[in-house]
Amino acid sequence: MRKIAVAMAKGGVGKTTTAVNLAHGLASMGKRVLLVDCDTQGQVAKFLGEKPNCGLYEFITERLENGQFIARNDTIHPCRQNLWMLDGGIRLVELKNWLGEQPREIRQTVLAQKLIPKEGALDFLIFDCAPGWDVLSVNILMAATEVLCPVALQGPSLQGLKTFFKYLQSAQKINLDLRLEYILPTMYDRRTRHSHDIFSQLKKYFGRQICDPVHYNVRLSEAPTHGQTIFEYAARARGARDYQNLIRRIINHGDRQEKDT
Ligand SMILES: Nc1ncnc2c1ncn2[C@@H]1O[C@H](COP(=O)(O)OP(=O)(O)OP(=O)(O)O)[C@@H](O)[C@H]1O
Ligand SMILES: [Mg+2]
Repeated sequence: MRKIAVAMAKGGVGKTTTAVNLAHGLASMGKRVLLVDCDTQGQVAKFLGEKPNCGLYEFITERLENGQFIARNDTIHPCRQNLWMLDGGIRLVELKNWLGEQPREIRQTVLAQKLIPKEGALDFLIFDCAPGWDVLSVNILMAATEVLCPVALQGPSLQGLKTFFKYLQSAQKINLDLRLEYILPTMYDRRTRHSHDIFSQLKKYFGRQICDPVHYNVRLSEAPTHGQTIFEYAARARGARDYQNLIRRIINHGDRQEKDT
């Protein structure tokens, strides 16, 4: 099973868009995927048009809001064929408090220890991370093995990148399996000089990790308002082709890793 964290401290760069479309694209290809929403905004459910009853908070604590016990499997919400989700949302504020109260030695690894699916049950675990950096972000990076960083090719996009990579390096000191595998340029507008310049800089620094960019595509921003992924809303749109491209790369990469071992 592969465990990919879609993470970047900066907000609004396309993390949720990437996590949702990547997860659904992989599921459509027959891969069994669990998408974990790690953000208090709870956007994943909205993007998929779902209303789960419970989610990551209940999964970790095995408690419902009224204190009653709930089995972990019952907190996982089926969304599409081969695709399941663990909802995020405001309850994650409580989860962060709960994590903060755990003994220091286990505080950072609670998620990694609890999220161990049965052998063969899943092919991919995808984490949609929140912007910023907190005890939950650390937990995700302890549970993941691959990091995919979306970087918007618009606005002051390189701002905060250095700080984020410092966080990442500190996580890698504890989780030795964690690798920065993909830098995904998003919101690429080929008509602007700015997009080109940032893309060139990223290629220079991240030759191995850089992926083909996802273009700025209005269909990508419309799809969530219909509770659909890009493959459901506009399968022929540029955005769908770009995410299909990313999915191909991720699958091929995995095949290569298997051959190497
Ligand atoms: N390639 C794209 N083209 C056009 N719009 C996009 C693209 N990618 C994302 N968007 C839109 O930009 C906004 C921010 O995207 P998204 O929510 O995926 O970012 P995020 O990094 O998850 O944000 P946050 O840090 O708040 O969680 C959304 O309205 C989304 O629909
Ligand atoms: Mg998001």
